[in-house]
Amino acid sequence: MTFLHLKVYTYRFLIFGVFVMMLSCDSKISETSSSNYPKDPVENKIDSILSTMSLEEKIGQTAQRGKSSRVKELPKDLKDAVRKGQIGSFLNIMNKEDAKELQRIAVEESPSKIPLIFARDVIHGFKTIFPIPLGQAASFNPSLVQEGSRIAAIEASTYGIRWTFAPMIDISRDPRWGRIAESAGEDPYLTSRMAEAYVKGFQGEDLASPTSLAACAKHFIGYGAAEGGRDYNTANINDNLLHNVYLKPFKTAVDAGSATFMTSFNDLNGIPASANSYILKDILREEWGFDGFVVSDWNSIIEMVNHGYAKDQKEAAEKSINAMLDMEMTSTSYHDHLKELIQEDKFSEKELDKIVRNILRIKFRLGLFDNPYFDSDDTILYDKKHLTAAQKTAEESIILLKNKNNILPLGAKSKIAIIGPLADAPHEQLGTWTFDGEKEHTITPLQSFKSDDEYMVQYSKGLSYSRDKSENDFGDAIKTAKSSDIILFFAGEEAILSGEAHSRADINLPGAQEELITELHKTGKPIILVLMAGRPITLGNIKDKVDAVLMAWHPGTMGGPALKNIITGLVSPSAKLPVTWPKEVGQIPIHYNHKNTGRPVIPEEFVHMDSIPIGAWQSSLGNTSHYLDAGFLPEYPFGYGLGYSSFKYSNFSISSTNPKIGETITVKVLVTNTGDVKAKETVQLYFRDMVGSLTRPVKELLRFEKIILNSGESKEVEFTFSTNDLAFYGPDKKWITESGNFKLWIAKHALDEENELEFILE
Ligand code: BGC
Repeated sequence: MTFLHLKVYTYRFLIFGVFVMMLSCDSKISETSSSNYPKDPVENKIDSILSTMSLEEKIGQTAQRGKSSRVKELPKDLKDAVRKGQIGSFLNIMNKEDAKELQRIAVEESPSKIPLIFARDVIHGFKTIFPIPLGQAASFNPSLVQEGSRIAAIEASTYGIRWTFAPMIDISRDPRWGRIAESAGEDPYLTSRMAEAYVKGFQGEDLASPTSLAACAKHFIGYGAAEGGRDYNTANINDNLLHNVYLKPFKTAVDAGSATFMTSFNDLNGIPASANSYILKDILREEWGFDGFVVSDWNSIIEMVNHGYAKDQKEAAEKSINAMLDMEMTSTSYHDHLKELIQEDKFSEKELDKIVRNILRIKFRLGLFDNPYFDSDDTILYDKKHLTAAQKTAEESIILLKNKNNILPLGAKSKIAIIGPLADAPHEQLGTWTFDGEKEHTITPLQSFKSDDEYMVQYSKGLSYSRDKSENDFGDAIKTAKSSDIILFFAGEEAILSGEAHSRADINLPGAQEELITELHKTGKPIILVLMAGRPITLGNIKDKVDAVLMAWHPGTMGGPALKNIITGLVSPSAKLPVTWPKEVGQIPIHYNHKNTGRPVIPEEFVHMDSIPIGAWQSSLGNTSHYLDAGFLPEYPFGYGLGYSSFKYSNFSISSTNPKIGETITVKVLVTNTGDVKAKETVQLYFRDMVGSLTRPVKELLRFEKIILNSGESKEVEFTFSTNDLAFYGPDKKWITESGNFKLWIAKHALDEENELEFILE
């Protein structure tokens, strides 16, 4: 060894030594108070507050209370409770003076002067309402979603709200479940991108800014897997499915910095989520390092008595607190029993300190200790910029599902019959979870068309609301249709038919809407069906009776102008389905990322039950995974949506067809707008791991990008991913990327296999 070599080795050794020291310092720094190293100043402040807090006050921090909206005055006992330090947070205090008074009592008169946090369900806008979250997911445009949630935070914070119970990121594969409306749909990757966008938007760049809201990733976990789509129902999710599908968006929410989490109502594999140590301690805290706090759902702790998991509220409190569920929403089992549980050694004050620390940490991060009050100047509500953003998001969330003979966009000067229960329903188009949106500020499609001289509009409601079964007004609607060139039929569901506890077993159009469409069809006038609903609606026979179908979800305050721009072609539709759209309710659960089974469908061998000969002999021929009546295809696949232009994908390439584990892979595709109009396209990249130590889905969304192209313009879209992105939670309960064959598709939707590539991971 030469001198030079020696020097190099010594040098390397030194660097290694410093690195090891750094690592060990690091791990010491992250230890708690026992460490000799300086702690985060916030933790020091919490130490000093904790050292003087009484047990009663500590328990008080875990309590979240509400006030009934029927009670006008602030009840005296509520104020006294704050004065004694018995409450840590409030929800739904919508009188600004009340909020200020409660906060004043907390920071001036309570023993430790700890500020309160005021919470509210600000789900898809505060006053300016954006499309329901399922619609926002359909935009495949996270930056719009981030902007919308930023706006919601700016508006809500003028009421002193600094914590929203959003985003809801439950994977939802069942459109019967009413809460699918609040979700980003069925896909873990899309939902993760949405989760990140919501968290960043609500929380802003700095959580301490007075317009930032703490986000709350909910519902942890498995709520979307409620049996039969019935709300609050049991979820049985095996460990692999839990990690590979349901947990993914929540992990993203932690990585994006979500300040809080909410447990779900359901029982997960036999243990209610609100007392589930595996998810709350092992996964959330230990594996993911979450350092915010967890709130229960409304009474979800005491509901464990109904679940049959606790004999009484005291036992429920014991189970939840031992799972380290930090804050109790509305019910009072912690308040009533924690002291006793500590005295009986069923929980320790030291552990309670950890819980209080989690809560105080977020109060510090929100800047509430420095700035407990709020600027109540609400002139910003419904600001022009907010309305513009809401309209843009609505435009990008409206999906064109059918467009026979390119009937859309409408030509100018058309004589239009506007018919249907949702054409002028300002409250309904806001959708579920809009406590604060006001119908007086909503612009409906009817108002939008009427205010434009280009269009000659005649209006006949036909049905007064979506569930209306009366055919009394059909005659007038038919007359209106006959004297027009085209029918715009606004159908769907009122807002109240989706959301919490609003599951449906039949997801057809309610009321007599189908009957009215059938009658209108007989006039021979073309029909554009515009759906407003909180879930996919099974279309059955009406699909063939209409010329175009637009899914507008519940599009929010600016739904009217957005729809008019889409219908008249000022904007080309660009949204894609965030959920698989079933033909029939019996196909549910239906999602694109299913497993292949041992007998996957062979399309050419499928025999519909109407074609089976009478007295047929039972054989195993054609025995694949399908329904005899509904077949094997959905009405529309995940990722599907048309526009007014067309796009060609070419030059699909991959950086290596033999990449090694750990490498980065780049795929490229040239996208050309081959249509006549400027339009947006969402390019989707799917993959399949062909053979695994666990069976893998037939397809998984890996990346997407939304681009805008002028007519005739081309753009190269490049996706980069690491082989870690192909990993799955395997049989050994670890994330693994396995070598072997993979397929990739650059696609327009989940069933599009035109552009396929293969690679072998070594
Ligand atoms: C819902 C939550 C919501 C909470 C507070 C519950 O019923 O499940 O999603 O945040 O109420 O309103």
